[in-house]
Amino acid sequence: MLAQLNTPAIIAHRGASAHAPENTLSAFKLAIEKQADAIELDAKLCASGEVVVVHDATLDRTTNGTGKVNETSLSDLKVLDAGSWFDDKFASERIPTLDEVFGIIGDQIPINVELTNYTSAGDDLAVKVAALVKRHKLTGSVFFSSFHPLTLSRARRAIPEVPCAFLTLDGFGGWLARNIIALFLSHQVIQPPYMNVTKRLITRAHRRGKRVNSYTINDAEIMRRLFSWGIDGIFTDDVPLARQVRAEVSA
Ligand code: G3P
Ligand code: MG
Repeated sequence: MLAQLNTPAIIAHRGASAHAPENTLSAFKLAIEKQADAIELDAKLCASGEVVVVHDATLDRTTNGTGKVNETSLSDLKVLDAGSWFDDKFASERIPTLDEVFGIIGDQIPINVELTNYTSAGDDLAVKVAALVKRHKLTGSVFFSSFHPLTLSRARRAIPEVPCAFLTLDGFGGWLARNIIALFLSHQVIQPPYMNVTKRLITRAHRRGKRVNSYTINDAEIMRRLFSWGIDGIFTDDVPLARQVRAEVSA
């Protein structure tokens, strides 16, 4: 499925998150409307075991609730307002389950599911997400990503036909992940932050048969630079801006 994406692909980071509250159905629908090439979302387990779509480990920033997602049941999550923090007009937005997103968005657009069990890496997230991908028959339109190599390995074992992207952090940890840990991991894509991307990094990755997607780019000048170097995809909150820059660069 990765080969079917536009190059460079414009991936709506947490949905069209510059224009709607991140990781909500509104943000995902808007990303489709604004003609993103793919959406990215953050998946983790809540206390009752369902896979929910929310970025932070805690509820405080993006809902009117408090506390940890993995200590809150789905029924308690579902009463929270996940939109007013962004704009009052989104007050009815709820934290979606991945099951709901797959049911509603389906294969209308490729979906990058980031496996974000960073505070509970031994949990069943990868296996549960793989089961949802199979049940919704979305093997051909989903790819996984994670900063955690063991979580990616578990996802790969559970559903080998879904591509995996290795997310890396900035700094020494990122260098170690890209240059050492990546040698032991089976993945099709590396996803470093834009500060770490050079033309050489892209060329070397391509030589090894890997794609490069970079995060999170909302600045036109940085987009222009990465597009001209031949990046395969960028994560952006601002899909219209990225589309405009891509059109300029390819004109
Ligand atoms: O996948 C790109 C990006 O989403 C990784 O960072 O923290 O926004 O999930 P974060
Ligand atoms: Mg993410």
